Amino acid sequence: MKQSEARERIRKLKEEIEEHNRNYYLLNSPTISDFEYDLLLNELGTLEKKFPELATDDSPTRRVGSDITREFRQYEHQYPMLSLGNTYSREELGEFNFRIEKATGSPVEYVCELKYDGASISITYKEGRMFRALTRGDGTRGDDVTSNVKTIKSIPLKINAKDIPPEFVVRGEILMPRGIFNRLNEERSETGLALFANPRNAAAGTLKLLDPRLVASRGLDCMFYYLLAEDLPHGTHYENMAKAREWGFMVPDSIRLCRNINEVMEFIDTWETGRKNLPFDIDGVVVKVNDLALQEELGFTAKSPRWAISYKYKAEQALTRLLHISFQVGRTGAVTPVANLEPVFLAGSTVKRATLHNEDQIALLGLHLNDMVYVEKGGEIIPKIVGVDHNSRNEESREIEFITSCPECGTPLVRNEGEANHYCPNYLHCPPQLKGRIEHFISRKAMNIEGIGEETVDLLFSRNLIRNYADLYELTAEQLVPLERMGEKSASNIISSIKNSLSVPYNRVLYAIGIRHVGETTAKTIASEFRSVDGLIKADIETLTAINEIGPKIASSIVSFFADNDNIIIIERLRKYGLNFREEERKGPETDRLKGKTIVISGVFEKHSRDDYKAIIEKHGGKNAGSISGSTTFILAGDNMGPAKKEKAANLGIPLISEKEFLELTGEE
Ligand code: IVH
Repeated sequence: MKQSEARERIRKLKEEIEEHNRNYYLLNSPTISDFEYDLLLNELGTLEKKFPELATDDSPTRRVGSDITREFRQYEHQYPMLSLGNTYSREELGEFNFRIEKATGSPVEYVCELKYDGASISITYKEGRMFRALTRGDGTRGDDVTSNVKTIKSIPLKINAKDIPPEFVVRGEILMPRGIFNRLNEERSETGLALFANPRNAAAGTLKLLDPRLVASRGLDCMFYYLLAEDLPHGTHYENMAKAREWGFMVPDSIRLCRNINEVMEFIDTWETGRKNLPFDIDGVVVKVNDLALQEELGFTAKSPRWAISYKYKAEQALTRLLHISFQVGRTGAVTPVANLEPVFLAGSTVKRATLHNEDQIALLGLHLNDMVYVEKGGEIIPKIVGVDHNSRNEESREIEFITSCPECGTPLVRNEGEANHYCPNYLHCPPQLKGRIEHFISRKAMNIEGIGEETVDLLFSRNLIRNYADLYELTAEQLVPLERMGEKSASNIISSIKNSLSVPYNRVLYAIGIRHVGETTAKTIASEFRSVDGLIKADIETLTAINEIGPKIASSIVSFFADNDNIIIIERLRKYGLNFREEERKGPETDRLKGKTIVISGVFEKHSRDDYKAIIEKHGGKNAGSISGSTTFILAGDNMGPAKKEKAANLGIPLISEKEFLELTGEE
């Protein structure tokens, strides 16, 4: 590969990996399996080794992903939280042992532990009491989730033993047992909430909930695997883990002391099959040098310790028969082939269906009807077919024909050049597309209409009570009460929730009406440029693309949405019912306590959110600015204000005002 090609490939890989990091750590909804992710990371690592001049410090091969969110306060880890080197091959594990034995000149004792698949946590204890629990964050700083962790019953709040160091850190993995996960998803599906893809995402998502009572109800567990302190009780990892267990931490019995690498391999064999019977998911085995002095000698790379490695199991697979293919039409009109399988048990649940993505995927697999296929659970909810057992193909095998018209409305399908998916172009009348738009309209970030989930939309649709989202505003309690599983209370809740949605601000209404490619942020931008929908309806491509952040794709989507008279009729109806189609006139300030003052908000606050403080500044006639300059009057400074900002403020002689002082100044206490 030429250097220019490598540069381009590295750029693409980085972009892709960052996107997957965001999906995994922040959104808790990965779109690929760990194995596929590791393949990307390995490819990047190999290219960086081959072209060292293209390797940068900010490469994902040198940094751990970050789970940091805005909602929690962050603190620095006393000991950084690194990741582990990993391998899927026993040969590489042998090489890991070889490197270490070369350094010591004799067989090395290892500790083998299961690699629990959850969300990592680092908990500091002071004088025997839980002091602070931090997520991994970016490895250097993590989110403070102490109040959530305190609700997990298997984690001690107070330790009574006499032999504890005055301060120590324990690390472990927060897990959701599979049984609890299945129940949680059942409940979520009944109430129309989005499902968690797997127990790991459910655990990580739960840990970041803002209501500790909800966390307490989710049945999380924690398995511990690391003890850190100035004065550890013992000189080996194994003994320290036994001590942690004595103090009340859950250190699983599976932990094993191995005298050499052969015993490590045996441990790996045992759990390859044994893991199926565990109540929670593991994705491999962690092998650690037992002796702490040797650990110290071996040290760390930028990202991980040299004294430990994780051996990852490939995702579990099952072999079953492909019975037939059905075709699903999604909310956007995309058609997805779905494989219907002979039911088979896989990684904790029975699998009956698997996604096939598109026509190309079927061709790539060389898949025929009646084939025996390998299924695997990746990062997503629906398992996928990863291979075909060509040897067991019989005379019943038949080629798969991709459909040519929409299974829902009969319209001939289209496949645009360069795209992998077939689409149903009947945007206006195809039922799943209509239902999808209604589901989007009522979703939390759009009109936030509670009490109606996917199932209710289906029901209302099948009873001909709604055909589009404007119809929601004509529903009456009398129409709803007789429906299955409804009752008077639910019916009246739904009606009042629909009524409450009339106060949803204009920018969210613009998001809710479902113009293709117009997400929440674009909707906000449009709302601030066009203070009323009338201007937006009249706007042409040129006017729209002149706006920052709006490219030709979004612009043409907006224009064609409003060119459709059916959409205009719906908007007129919504306007008649009272939805907000213009930006509310901003109220003038109520006092002039902050008149003429330019205020920068920085840091984290206890009493109010940043947005609240912005509103308070406006309310009292002040101006909020984003960055510090000579014209800044003062800085409203919360905790954790960055050092660069502090220095700039000091250099310019700009005073810092605390949250308390600010509330006094504005009379908002
Ligand atoms: S030891 C410095 N042991 O795997 C070594 N980690 O990829 C610290 N994990 O962030 C890690 N089970 O969340 C260790 N038995 C185990 C583990 C384990 C799961 C997770 C942990 C860590 C990640 C590293």
